[in-house]
Amino acid sequence: MQSTLEREFKILVPKEEHRKTIAKVFDEGTIHTLHGLADNKYFEQLEFIVSTGKEAHVFRARGSANQYRAVKVYKTRTSDFKHMMDYIRGDNRFKTLKHERYSIVKTWTRKEFKNLELANQAKVKAPLPLTFKNNVLVMEFIGEKGIAAPTLKEKPAQEPENAFETVLKAMADLLYKSKLIHADLSEYNILNQNEEMILIDMGQSVLTSHPRAKDFFERDIKNITHYFQRQGVQTSMEEAKKTIKQFK
Ligand SMILES: Nc1ncnc2c1ncn2[C@@H]1O[C@H](COP(=O)(O)OP(=O)(O)O)[C@@H](O)[C@H]1O
Ligand SMILES: [Mg+2]
Repeated sequence: MQSTLEREFKILVPKEEHRKTIAKVFDEGTIHTLHGLADNKYFEQLEFIVSTGKEAHVFRARGSANQYRAVKVYKTRTSDFKHMMDYIRGDNRFKTLKHERYSIVKTWTRKEFKNLELANQAKVKAPLPLTFKNNVLVMEFIGEKGIAAPTLKEKPAQEPENAFETVLKAMADLLYKSKLIHADLSEYNILNQNEEMILIDMGQSVLTSHPRAKDFFERDIKNITHYFQRQGVQTSMEEAKKTIKQFK
């Protein structure tokens, strides 16, 4: 007889050709979590892995009305928990935290959800977060006809000057409207959807009250300025900071 877990997994991933690959990356708890989310209609089925990173897998999922969702599943065993703690500790939204791997990953997932909410509240272009549970975050799928938008790294902007200013405006809105620092901003965490700059990957983002917020902000400015300089934009970190201040 089939175990409940196998049954749940088959409902979750009906396509056999994808099931093998996906089975390798999940533990039991994650399958239950995903099944619960599907039960609650946040999506109907997982289709395939869009991206595998150090800390998470991102899947394309299909919702009921045939719309797509992005489902980000944080790894519960191999993530860099020490790194995560550096961005959780000091952020006063997350006080009571057991220093135990699963609760760190759960907090991280909740943190990314909250940060995406803040970004959207500040009208910054970022995926709309739909829900989170344990180590799983469900959000709007950014792409067209089911194909995920490329990162800025993969598809540089046609007009880098404009794109640079747009990214600085997004940083300013995050900062002044939501008191949030992205803290891992680079061409890898910006999607270029038809020349719109969409900020993603906000698990590490911190409030300005975090003791290292200033360092993280400087680093974001540095990464983004250097990237756009390589794209031919005549600028400097000082100028970038000035531009951000002008958006206040
Ligand atoms: N909402 C989304 N819609 C479409 N694709 C996404 C979405 N979120 C992430 N991705 C894809 O997954 C990749 C990794 O996502 P990211 O949040 O940066 O995770 P990581 O922590 O692995 O860097 C992105 O580069 C993008 O290709
Ligand atoms: Mg990323």
